[in-house]
Parts: sequence; C-alpha cells; structure tokens
Amino acid sequence: MMEKLNGLKILITGGAGFIGGAVIRRLLTSGDSFIFNLDKIGYASDINEIHRILNDNELSNRYTFLKVDLKDMKEVENAIKISDPDLIIHLAAESHVDRSIDSPSEFILSNVLGTFNLLEASREHWSKLSKKRKEKFKFLHVSTDEVFGSLDVNKKGFHESYPYDPRSPYSASKASSDHLVRSWFHTYKFPSMITNCSNNFGPKQFPEKLIPLVIQKALKGEDIPLYGDGSNVRDWLFVEDHVDAILLVISKGVIGQSYCVGGFGEKSNIEVVKMICEILENLIPSQKVPYHNLINKVKDRPGHDLRYSIDSSKIQSELGWVPKHSFESALKKTICWYIENVDWCEQILSQSGYELDRKGI
Ligand code: NAD
Ligand code: TYD
Repeated sequence: MMEKLNGLKILITGGAGFIGGAVIRRLLTSGDSFIFNLDKIGYASDINEIHRILNDNELSNRYTFLKVDLKDMKEVENAIKISDPDLIIHLAAESHVDRSIDSPSEFILSNVLGTFNLLEASREHWSKLSKKRKEKFKFLHVSTDEVFGSLDVNKKGFHESYPYDPRSPYSASKASSDHLVRSWFHTYKFPSMITNCSNNFGPKQFPEKLIPLVIQKALKGEDIPLYGDGSNVRDWLFVEDHVDAILLVISKGVIGQSYCVGGFGEKSNIEVVKMICEILENLIPSQKVPYHNLINKVKDRPGHDLRYSIDSSKIQSELGWVPKHSFESALKKTICWYIENVDWCEQILSQSGYELDRKGI
C-alpha cells in the first residue's frame, strides 16, 4: 500500500499531535513521499520525535513544517500554495471532550471553521490541477465514532450508515466537519473520504486522555479519577492500527465513501483502569498503596456517552484492514513507554500548563 504514496506530496494537518505524529513518523520511515506538516502547535503538540527521525536519517529534504492555524484562511491558502499537495490527510482538531465542555468555542473555530477553510483552499487548489494530478487527488478527513452518539448496551456497533447523534461540543464539532466534507463531495465533486475511528491509545498521547492519565496518576501515587460508576464502554484501538487504516484509505479508499475503524477492544472504563493497575503492579510493584486502591470514583462528566462500539466490517472486507495488536499487548507496550518516558510527560505537561490534578467536572 505504501508504494502507492511514493513520490507524492502529502499535506498532513495536525501532524504535531498524537495520531498525526504517528502517521508522519510512519511515512518518513517507510516509502519516499514528501511530507508537509500543518499545525498551529497547541497544548498537546510535540514535534521533537519527528525532528529526531529527520536528523538520524537525514530526511529533512522530505519534510516541511508549516506553523499554520486553520482558523486563518490566508495562512491556510498560503500553506496549500507552498505544499502543492497530491493528497491531504486532515487530522488537526481540538480533541478532548472535557475541554469542549469547559470551553466549546475553540472547538467550533478549529474543527468547524478550520475544516471549512481547509476544504475551500483545497478545492481551489484541486480545481487548478492538471487533469492527471486532478484524477489522483484525494482528501481524507479523519473523524471519530463519537459523532454517532451513545450506544445502548445491547445494540450492534456503529457502521457507516448509522445516523449521526453527537452529544458533546467536541462530537458536535466533528459531526459538523464530517457534514461539510460530505457536502463538498456531493456539491463540488471534491474527492473526499472520511474515517470514523474509535478511541485510540498508545505512546505519546497527551496525558489528559484516560489511559495515559491513569498511568501518570498511578506512577505518582495519586488518586485515579474514574467518572461516574466506571461502567461506560469505549472500543479501544492501538494508534499504529489506526495509522494502518488511514494509510490504507488514502491509498485505496473509494472517493465519497466513509469507513468505520475500530472494533475488538470494547472495555468498560473500570476494566481498563484495573488492567492498567494490574500491569503496573507486575512491572513496578507499588511501594505503599496498591495501585488499584488509588481508583477514586468522581462526579460524572455531563452528557457522558454510555458506550461506543464499531462494526468495522466494511474497511476489513473492502480494503483488507485488520488490526495487528490485541488490546492487552498494546496496553502493556503503552504502559512500558510511559514508564520509560516520564520526562516526556513532565515536559509536555509543563509546556501546556495542564493541571493533572483535575477531578472531573
Ligand atoms: P491531538 O489533540 O493529540 O492533536 C491534534 C493536533 O491538531 C494538535 O497538534 C493541534 O495543535 C492541532 N490543531 C488543533 N487545532 C488546530 C488549528 N486550528 N490549526 C492547526 N492545527 C490545529 O489529537 P489526536 O488524538 O491526534 O486526534 C487527531 C484527529 O483524530 C482529530 O481530528 C480527532 O478528532 C481524530 N480522532 C481522534 C481519536 C482519539 O482517540 N484520539 C479517535 C478518533 C478520531
Ligand atoms: P477520554 O480518554 O477523555 O476519551 P473520550 O471521552 O473521547 O471517550 O475518556 C475515555 C473514557 O474514560 C470516557 O468514558 C471518560 C472516562 N474518563 C474517566 O473516567 N476519568 C478521566 O479522568 C478521564 C479523562 C476519562
């Protein structure tokens, strides 16, 4: 699949973030595409690892960083001009539900207005491409399963024609951006595709999301905040499996289609938190209080979606995607990474000014 991308100019938005960074690192270390990383550099951003890969492998001729805020149309147009892309993978977004509840406006501006600006600048660029390049141009919008809302316990997983029912400012902003992308396809024939993926985890995820937050809290011997009764279910996917899916869709996906990505990792939050405590107990036994005794039920998140679950049969049968990692093995890998990279966490938390002692809303 990577050979289809060789020699192409790929614009990746949000490449300083958790998933975008993993996509860029994969593209730099395999294949020979030219990468343009568009990012505003927000609180969760980190480009040090990309720079390390560039220096170690003398790859700087294949990578350009564009410090651009998608809210600014002029900056976006300029970035499109500089990168002159064959493909666009759009990941830039404000991504944390709790933050969207506290201050929704940045989510509307970055995720909705930002996507609109990118779509318009990309459409202008696409319309002027030569016939040959125009036929090959693709725009992939990376979205979330949260746009489908909250799933009852006994219901089958979300699929591509499942009705949208977003219930948080974050998921509503992502749903809005999905609708924009889809309408640009129908109205302008703009060659776009969408992926809707379940919760990701893995190394280098900003430690405000459940899994890295729990690891940090446990390692520090601090209370682990579990929202409500911990029965909410998420369908966890290792970030490298999501990267496989993204690269597969941008290489082989059908224009105008969406693909649900996830599955196999459904777990309640209490199960996940207990598994983390158990793995940690085996790796570095707790000194005073057993890790699981730190679990502390706190006030629930408002509008907390009960369950997400994905039916990923379309991407599996049509494009041959299969996740390579089991939840257990990937969780262990992730925990080991956080144990070995305590400094990374300290640094990204201090640069962002984020307080890890938040106890729910
Ligand atoms: P992240 O918060 O780690 O990274 C997002 C990046 O986007 C950051 O570097 C940020 O600076 C950048 N960004 C935000 N607003 C911007 C703007 N206005 N202009 C330019 N750059 C901007 O998020 P992530 O977890 O890597 O998620 C990436 C994408 O994948 C998002 O679109 C998210 O909705 C989607 N997604 C995430 C998950 C998950 O579990 N993390 C699951 C499914 C889909
Ligand atoms: P999160 O990682 O924020 O992802 P999302 O809200 O996008 O699913 O949260 C995952 C689940 O964990 C969600 O049900 C909320 C819950 N949660 C806690 O119980 N405690 C926490 O401190 C956090 C951040 C999340």
